[in-house]
Amino acid sequence: MKMFKGISLLLTLIVFVEAQNDQSGFISIDCGIPRGSTYSDRYTDINYVSDADFIDSGEIHTILQEYEPAPDKQLTTLTSFPENHRNCYTLRPTKGKGYKYLIRARFMYGNYDLKGRLPEFDVYLGPDYWDTLKLNSSATPVNMEIIHMSLSDYIHVCLLNTGRGTPFISAIELRLLGSNMYTQTDFGSLYVYKYADFGDSSGKMRFKPDQYDRLWSPTNLPNTILLNTSNKISSQLSRIALPPSRVMSTAITPADPTDLDTLNIEWNERNHGDKFFVFLHFAELETLPRNQKREFNIYLNGNLFSGPFSPVFQLTNTFSSTKPELVAPTYTLTINKTTNSTLPPIINAMELYTLKQLTQNQTYDQDAVVLWSIKSTYNISTKNWQGDPCIPQEFVWDGIGCNHDDKSFTRITFLNLSTSGLNGEIASGIANLTMIDTLDLSNNNLSGTVPNFLSELSFLKVLNLKGNRLIGPVPEALLTKSNQGSLLLSFDDEIRGDAASSCESNTCKNKNNKKVIVPALATVAVIVMISTVFIAVWIFKKQNARGTGLHIRKQQYTYSEIQRITNNFNDVIGKGGFGIVYRGHIGDTQVAVKMLSESSNQGEKEFQAEANVLLNVHHKNLTSFVGYCNEEKQKGIIYEYMANGNLERHLFDRSSTILDWEKRLQIGCDAAHGLEYLHHGCKPPIIHRDIKCANILLNEKFQAKLADFGLSRVFPIECGTHISTVVAGTPGYIDPNYCTSHTLTEKNDVYSFGVVLLVIITGKPTAIRYEDEYIHISEWVSLKVSEGNMKNIVDPRILEDYDINSAWKAVEVAMECVADTPNRRPTMNKVLMDLKDCLETERARKGTEPGNLSGRVSLNLEGVYDPNPR
Ligand SMILES: *[C@@H]1O[C@H](CO)[C@@H](O)[C@H](O)[C@H]1NC(C)=O
Ligand SMILES: *[C@@H]1O[C@H](CO)[C@@H](O)[C@H](O)[C@H]1NC(C)=O
Ligand SMILES: *[C@@H]1O[C@H](CO)[C@@H](O)[C@H](O)[C@H]1NC(C)=O
Ligand SMILES: *[C@@H]1O[C@H](CO)[C@@H](O)[C@H](O)[C@H]1NC(C)=O
Ligand SMILES: *[C@@H]1O[C@H](CO)[C@@H](O)[C@H](O)[C@H]1NC(C)=O
Ligand SMILES: *[C@@H]1O[C@H](CO)[C@@H](O)[C@H](O)[C@H]1NC(C)=O
Ligand SMILES: *[C@@H]1O[C@H](CO)[C@@H](O)[C@H](O)[C@H]1NC(C)=O
Ligand SMILES: *[C@@H]1O[C@H](CO)[C@@H](O)[C@H](O)[C@H]1NC(C)=O
Ligand SMILES: *[C@@H]1O[C@H](CO)[C@@H](O)[C@H](O)[C@H]1NC(C)=O
Repeated sequence: MKMFKGISLLLTLIVFVEAQNDQSGFISIDCGIPRGSTYSDRYTDINYVSDADFIDSGEIHTILQEYEPAPDKQLTTLTSFPENHRNCYTLRPTKGKGYKYLIRARFMYGNYDLKGRLPEFDVYLGPDYWDTLKLNSSATPVNMEIIHMSLSDYIHVCLLNTGRGTPFISAIELRLLGSNMYTQTDFGSLYVYKYADFGDSSGKMRFKPDQYDRLWSPTNLPNTILLNTSNKISSQLSRIALPPSRVMSTAITPADPTDLDTLNIEWNERNHGDKFFVFLHFAELETLPRNQKREFNIYLNGNLFSGPFSPVFQLTNTFSSTKPELVAPTYTLTINKTTNSTLPPIINAMELYTLKQLTQNQTYDQDAVVLWSIKSTYNISTKNWQGDPCIPQEFVWDGIGCNHDDKSFTRITFLNLSTSGLNGEIASGIANLTMIDTLDLSNNNLSGTVPNFLSELSFLKVLNLKGNRLIGPVPEALLTKSNQGSLLLSFDDEIRGDAASSCESNTCKNKNNKKVIVPALATVAVIVMISTVFIAVWIFKKQNARGTGLHIRKQQYTYSEIQRITNNFNDVIGKGGFGIVYRGHIGDTQVAVKMLSESSNQGEKEFQAEANVLLNVHHKNLTSFVGYCNEEKQKGIIYEYMANGNLERHLFDRSSTILDWEKRLQIGCDAAHGLEYLHHGCKPPIIHRDIKCANILLNEKFQAKLADFGLSRVFPIECGTHISTVVAGTPGYIDPNYCTSHTLTEKNDVYSFGVVLLVIITGKPTAIRYEDEYIHISEWVSLKVSEGNMKNIVDPRILEDYDINSAWKAVEVAMECVADTPNRRPTMNKVLMDLKDCLETERARKGTEPGNLSGRVSLNLEGVYDPNPR
């Protein structure tokens, strides 16, 4: 076997490692001593500090007197964690990441809680399971030690309550190791199994003799005798961290007169499948006469590990595994004298480790650094901000959202510190949260200026600074982003600065004329109203409204202008729960104006930003916002006039003309196109969130446009109640997945769109009576599909005047959209393409289009390109 590291006797490089008191790479924490206290251990001279600065939680305790004195002073006190499922210590070694550390957690129960019940709990190193703490007795301390290459500047030791007693800890020690030591960490971390100091009768050996503070335990085997020397054992200048001279100066050798030839050392695996690394250290302690020779071979479980080898006088040689040893339940190390040897074998010291794969990657370090600095800047101690911010996912910090897509770099994308009692300026570290998309700092006591770096966060989509004592002005770059619609920006009016307004009328200003109440439009309630605006019925004469062809530059109107536009509100064309819709004209373009009946003072900035988004999204299949008015008492929205009202009316109102199959497909294509644009043409994507037939409006040419888009970020869907409060009678469009997961994705829209398609195809409501109960339209269709007769599915009012393949295809697309698993639903690109195929097939049948010439381009309905190409 070639498992040994060569012995190179570079005698010229012999150095003596003196005992020294260099603790620069140490963190030594005695848990449970009062905050701020420190002491120097009288045996080791190691300086211990209180754990209070490394963790926010915990109760301090002392072991019962009957267990004193503890083997080490650090074991006398402890910190226990009756609160919280998980509690983490955070160590920040000065050298930071990329170095190897020996990390040791120590536990001694000492019946501190008088319960006399040994607790059992899990210990984690960062996000990774390290081991389960199992104690044998109140008096026996347990150490968990690991050699770990840290990939983060932060090392977390976490205790998890697993319901079998309150976690506690007595001490935590971290030691910086040389970067060339223990190259076996290339395979993973090394979980310490044993540091055996053979032949020592003088007790535990650690710092200072061992500059790395390994805990060597005196180990003696039956049928052996001890050898020792008072001379110093030197070590080669070695890549391996050799045991200190005090450990090497003792050894064992066989004593049994019947077998002087063999030393046997045995151990068992700790957990099934453990992979061991073995380090063996030898030095000759006796001066051998000329005619004597000590030579031996070393076998591990019968396989040659190393040899033949003769230990060198007072010089340490080490053999170590260069890769994990073969797995076995028990291990026997046999050291056999060779035939030429006149003396029995010896061994001085041994290190055993098991491989521990710590596979979870922590949060991207730069992001973690920012959060830790925020935590300390604002003295945040009441939140569950412990351990790694993002990992494991069940312990993500409160108010933080993470993107786990890239397994090697988990990034922070969301930070909500709303109402967290923050004092002081906006932390400059936020500049380093480069992937953040939502930052909510509202309702704190933040002061100082609004920093410019906020505008350099290129993924920032939502920024809320409201309810602070910040000083304006808001950086121009932020306002620009907000006006361009890429940022939903909220702040207090007072700090807007003078970058403001194009307001033309005095009614736009408040009485003392200081503050300009600018574009800010309405309230969250207002937004709710908008949904109803579009649902309100438009039954009106055709005019020269031309959809996106509206050439109206101005977007902000005063109340008096609105009065003119609507001819003093004399033509009521609809009424919703939140206000009245009037017909009006801007020039000779017809518009619809919704005046909001009551306005609250909340959400103005949110809506302002949202209105800016909407004003900037243009697509032929999306209704256009024309403008708005926002005055103290009078708020209104102006939007494109849609002569034929909403799709629902045309499907269900028996008095309206029946939409034929081709028109239905065309409306489906139009709506799909609008939605596809929101999902794939807008950056960031806009999730509509409220796709339903009532939100599909038709203009005078029956071109369909989606209404009410872009509002999802302003007010949340309330599952169960939203539909019934806002729009009575149209349940069934919301993805049931959304209601359980509460995460909004494009696939939620796809589901709703699928329901729309089913309604269009069947002409039925979303809940259909079937036998004795109401079932969802998707269930109903799938029942009918299994009957195999398209006649039973398609709206009978179409009178079977449709291409059967086109109909099957449309049903298939719709059913894909409503798949239970969001991942299995198609994207809107795919839906749009499939629907265009359906339309093409139908048109080929009717001869309205040269079907065989195919080419999707010819189907671009009006032959116009999107006004805003992607
Ligand atoms: C606990 O006791 C068992 C059996 O007595 C022993 O095998 C084991 O090594 C002990 N564990 C510790 C951590 O002392
Ligand atoms: C070395 O051996 C001698 C005799 O066996 C013993 O008295 C002494 O205590 C030993 N020293 C150590 C450090 O074990
Ligand atoms: C070591 O020596 C003992 C006794 O001499 C022998 O029984 C055993 O087989 C040897 N082991 C190996 C691995 O050679
Ligand atoms: C024993 O020693 C002799 C002479 O030094 C040498 O020739 C022989 O190869 C050695 N045998 C072994 C097994 O090492
Ligand atoms: C931080 O908060 C803790 C408790 O909430 C308090 O004891 C401590 O004084 C605060 N420190 C600072 C610097 O505000
Ligand atoms: C950690 O990152 C590495 C790549 O750096 C990746 O291969 C591994 O899967 C990640 N681990 C986990 C648990 O995601
Ligand atoms: C932030 O949290 C508060 C409640 O603590 C909540 O009202 C607010 O909507 C959250 N902000 C964002 C952007 O999610
Ligand atoms: C941002 O990160 C860089 C490198 O990680 C660091 O040098 C800089 O100090 C950080 N900036 C702030 C404001 O924390
Ligand atoms: C807010 O900050 C100011 C100083 O900037 C301080 O005087 C005041 O006490 C703080 N208010 C609260 C509630 O912390």
